[in-house]
Amino acid sequence: MNLPKVFITRPLPPPVVERIATRCDVEVQPEDAPLEPARLAEACRDIEGLMTSGVRVSQELLEHAPRLRVIANVGVGYDNIDVAACTRRRILVTNTPDVLTETTADLAFALLMAVARRLVESDRFVREGRWHYWQWGYFWGADLFRKTLGVYGLGRIGKAVARRARGFSMRVLYCDIVRPSPALEQELGAQFVDRETLLREADFLTLHVPLTPETQHLIGARELAMLKPTAFLINTARGQVVDEPALVEALQSKQIAGAGLDVFEQEPHIHPVLLGLPNVVLTPHVGSATSQTRLAMAMLAAENLLAALEGRRPPTPVNPEIYT
Ligand code: DGY
Repeated sequence: MNLPKVFITRPLPPPVVERIATRCDVEVQPEDAPLEPARLAEACRDIEGLMTSGVRVSQELLEHAPRLRVIANVGVGYDNIDVAACTRRRILVTNTPDVLTETTADLAFALLMAVARRLVESDRFVREGRWHYWQWGYFWGADLFRKTLGVYGLGRIGKAVARRARGFSMRVLYCDIVRPSPALEQELGAQFVDRETLLREADFLTLHVPLTPETQHLIGARELAMLKPTAFLINTARGQVVDEPALVEALQSKQIAGAGLDVFEQEPHIHPVLLGLPNVVLTPHVGSATSQTRLAMAMLAAENLLAALEGRRPPTPVNPEIYT
């Protein structure tokens, strides 16, 4: 029997690869590094399933993959994939929502606390042997309790961040294109406000929107100018949601107090000025990076892949309209 061919663009946990290998003829790219476009195109030539994370899947790549039926993205965001082109070709795209919600919310909160309490600066100071005696004036930061958290985008991760804020007695404001039920607002203790109020009142503004043409540069010079000079920006969503040069300018000129950033406009390139600023905490796009969550993501992607290849409806499709 001819098993469907599958290519996996990253070395995923062995139990996941083993599960796929029971029902597919699977090839795994052995290095956890980006693939050369020509190598990727070559690997896609005969495959029916592609499992990937962060790799750009363009219309051009699809042209090299005439037999492709499913792309299982190991990640919730799928802005790396030309979904419209896939839909035209009736290629199913799937993603991994839910399983990474709490872990990503943890990182957003960790960045928020780290930048507010200057953890990275303090750590560096101790390691560099510069701590000679206790000083009253060392590393004064900003409190979280009773401050206002502005959640931009109250989807799964935004809600999970809002829940965490309650434990810190924070006031939670949010804005979104849809308004959830009053019961959910009450449970979260979150108040719906317009975008301008959110920007003007937030002490911490945390971004939880997907990257779409509408959210590209959602936060630019104009929005940054509305923030308080004591406000912090936290971004664990996508780098392109923020106009990075405008953010650099706002940080340099102390128009805002600081930022905690896990995502960047031109990853892995980071604006050189950001690297030298003490009032930012930078992490390399690791929102979902815990061993439990990465395993759960890879397992869910595998279930999606196998279901699609076997003609079953996968748990989390992105473009289910291809079935109609
Ligand atoms: C996601 O799941 O979207 C993460 O950002 C990894 O790309």
